[in-house]
Amino acid sequence: MTQNLPQTCLVTGGAGFIGSHLIDALLSDANTKEVRVLDNFSSGRREHLAHHEHDARLKIHQAELLELETITPHFHGVDQVFHLAANPDARWGIDNTRLDLEQETIVTYNVLEAMRRQKVPRLVFSSSGTVYGDVGTTVTHENLGPCLPVSLYGAGKVASEGLISAFCATFGLQAIIFRFGNIVGERTTHGVIYDFIRQLTKGSTELTVLGNGHQAKPYVYVRDLVEGLMFGKMRCAELKPSQFNVFNLAPDGATSVRFIAAELLRQLGFSDRTAIKYGESTQGWPGDVAQSRMDSTKLRQAGFALPRSSDEVVRHAIQQIIRWLSTRPPQADLRLPPDAKPLL
Ligand SMILES: NC(=O)c1ccc[n+]([C@@H]2O[C@H](COP(=O)([O-])OP(=O)(O)OC[C@H]3O[C@@H](n4cnc5c(N)ncnc54)[C@H](O)[C@@H]3O)[C@@H](O)[C@H]2O)c1
Repeated sequence: MTQNLPQTCLVTGGAGFIGSHLIDALLSDANTKEVRVLDNFSSGRREHLAHHEHDARLKIHQAELLELETITPHFHGVDQVFHLAANPDARWGIDNTRLDLEQETIVTYNVLEAMRRQKVPRLVFSSSGTVYGDVGTTVTHENLGPCLPVSLYGAGKVASEGLISAFCATFGLQAIIFRFGNIVGERTTHGVIYDFIRQLTKGSTELTVLGNGHQAKPYVYVRDLVEGLMFGKMRCAELKPSQFNVFNLAPDGATSVRFIAAELLRQLGFSDRTAIKYGESTQGWPGDVAQSRMDSTKLRQAGFALPRSSDEVVRHAIQQIIRWLSTRPPQADLRLPPDAKPLL
């Protein structure tokens, strides 16, 4: 079986939030011969991988994925690519409309072309539930279409999925595409919990919420997600040349921003102290998919189930983030609010 042979994996965006947890999992796998990280450190952090500095199997390369000729040699001898590098925040595309075109579509093309040139057979790709667009509380499954995203970020994911499909069909690659829900956990560098903690560190008497707080989406704990990615690696090796498969990776149901705000304040000991100020709009920002529900039956039937509900994920992730923050230096971008009295 291919997956039992020693393997060289390449992770784009491996110093990022999700990528660094994936590196932990790959390095704890006895079949891993080598893990190559390609990251330009735009949002990735060396500190996320510092605990592996004595593991000779990990090779970290500072590399810009927009530069095809520079990155191509790094793909030589690779068995499995995980392509995670991207613009991490859908909101950034509002101010810079080229960002998602470059960081999603062109970067994904470059990764696929480097794989083709170096005859790398297998890809696991991190897409997103944003591909489905704004379909309200409709429960989305993989066959729903056409995918009509409402953010440039979501459009970049759809374009990337299209390129993967075409490279598989034309050049015989095998790929698993995962459409993630919202990922939360320690080493976070963006997203709602990150934003709330940053605000509370500046002052804990008031918390401002973008939108009316009724936005509700499915949340996944980052280490559970990584289990799913490792499952995807195994399934990818079982595909035939030219085959690819798409899976939602999110729990049933959804958690509201109001729940997240209340739970964070509770765990920080701020429930009686902080006034929550809600906006009026149903969306957090233009292009925000305010309601998202995803069906992961297909993935469960394939053999992988997430262990927690979305609300349980939020509770657990906040606890893990608070534990992680209590070990961080005072100059870190994200730290515990000085007056917090965590319930740990
Ligand atoms: N976090 C979520 O909630 C979520 C949800 C759905 C999908 N995703 C997808 O998962 C993937 C990982 O997201 P994340 O949350 O870990 O974000 P992240 O920003 O922490 O990770 C992205 C990594 O890619 C690197 N990178 C970005 N552009 C690059 C380039 N041009 N060249 C080289 N490196 C580059 C960054 O430095 C960073 O390390 C992304 O594709 C993202 O779209 C994330």
